[in-house]
Amino acid sequence: MAAKIIKGTEVAAQIREELKERVKRLKEKGITPGLGVVLVGQDPASVSYVTAKAKGAEEIGMFEQTINLPADASEEEVLRTVDRLNRDPRFHGVLVQLPLPKHVNTEKVINFISPEKDVDAFHPVNQGKLLRGEPCPLPCTPHGVQQLLVRSGFDPGGKHVVICGRSNIVGKPLAAMLMQKKKGANATVTVVHTGTKDMAYFTRQADIVVAAMGAPKAITADMIREGAVVIDVGVNRVEDPTAAKGFRLVGDCDFEAIKEKAAAITPVPGGVGPMTVTMLLMNTVEAAEREAGLIP
Ligand code: GUN
Repeated sequence: MAAKIIKGTEVAAQIREELKERVKRLKEKGITPGLGVVLVGQDPASVSYVTAKAKGAEEIGMFEQTINLPADASEEEVLRTVDRLNRDPRFHGVLVQLPLPKHVNTEKVINFISPEKDVDAFHPVNQGKLLRGEPCPLPCTPHGVQQLLVRSGFDPGGKHVVICGRSNIVGKPLAAMLMQKKKGANATVTVVHTGTKDMAYFTRQADIVVAAMGAPKAITADMIREGAVVIDVGVNRVEDPTAAKGFRLVGDCDFEAIKEKAAAITPVPGGVGPMTVTMLLMNTVEAAEREAGLIP
């Protein structure tokens, strides 16, 4: 039977409607949630991500400002900009778009973001809290994956989730999140990566496979158990002369073949992507709600 296609665009739209209401309630209390974005240079993919964040924020009634520094801005200039946004009460969330130019120390910049305003949840304090199961902003892509699963009727509780990829942005924090003894988590988690001898041995045992390796179509149908749920986090640009932009986006999974075997699968684009921005907006609204005393 053909798989259910998990439409991230629709789930994201539903969450954004909920966020609109929360923004309205905050505005009634005289608070407009604000997001400050620092973009260094004009990398095309980064510009497109930042544009999506700004547009999303404005659509739900938030305040958003992007500070675009030149590609040759010094590390000190980047740090000074982060410091200014940290101190500015109009911003409840502050993020620095990655990757940064090579002459800027990414770790130093991330460590400089105020943990209370760290809506990407990249700061080591927030990563530590996540691992320990303490309240903290949740990393956007992992939280998006979790929400997609739960809201599509595939709660990870008690399931074997195999995560392919161990990045600091997706694989590692998703593993930490899904292993917690909490609602929407409580899964048995296996993480496979480039050091794994036989990746397919593990993925074939999974109830849920999350592909987050950044390798186009690396997960093939023979690696998936009949009836498994497959979440594709990959966003890979592959050359396509027939496409208007000269490239098209493909995920880490062989979508066409897997959809004949899996119970459900996310498409690329239109799967996890729209969820990531939505969870960023949610973190910013939540930071504003915390300031307003609406949540602890
Ligand atoms: N670059 C790629 N993904 C992300 C993200 O989620 N946040 C930031 N700040 N930069 C990114």
